[in-house]
Amino acid sequence: MIDHISFLDREHTELLEKLQQYALNKGRLGAIFSQILAIFSYHLDREEETVIPLLAYLKERMGRKKRPNLEYFRKISSEFDNEFENMIKEHLQIEDLCQDAITLAGTDCIEIHDLSGSLRRHMLLEEQLLYPAAQAATFLLEREVSGVIQ
Ligand SMILES: [Fe+2]
Ligand SMILES: [Fe+2]
Repeated sequence: MIDHISFLDREHTELLEKLQQYALNKGRLGAIFSQILAIFSYHLDREEETVIPLLAYLKERMGRKKRPNLEYFRKISSEFDNEFENMIKEHLQIEDLCQDAITLAGTDCIEIHDLSGSLRRHMLLEEQLLYPAAQAATFLLEREVSGVIQ
């Protein structure tokens, strides 16, 4: 089974490094990547503070070696709920900026297509798998707190 926590961490680091490199470009392309970098840096911090701990809660529940710290995870799940819509909006902003970069770079610039593709795959995986897993964690957590499940 893939460890989605270390996978997410690793992808964030790799994408951040590439974006930092592309943001150094001169002119409009550099400006677009600087914008993506600013959104992405802020965005990934909140994912690492909310989505990753909620995935860790699911993992702790599966293993059941120790009782999860419910108050801690409850605070995290409320932060995730508050940030969820913003995080989806940020994905859309990044998507639009990637499209601008591709349009500006033209069809020959394989690296820009690759980086945009990697960002899109990353966001799609989050929206289709990791955010729903974090929502499922919130659902389970509330039931565990209220004693419906143990
Ligand atoms: Fe992410
Ligand atoms: Fe994201």
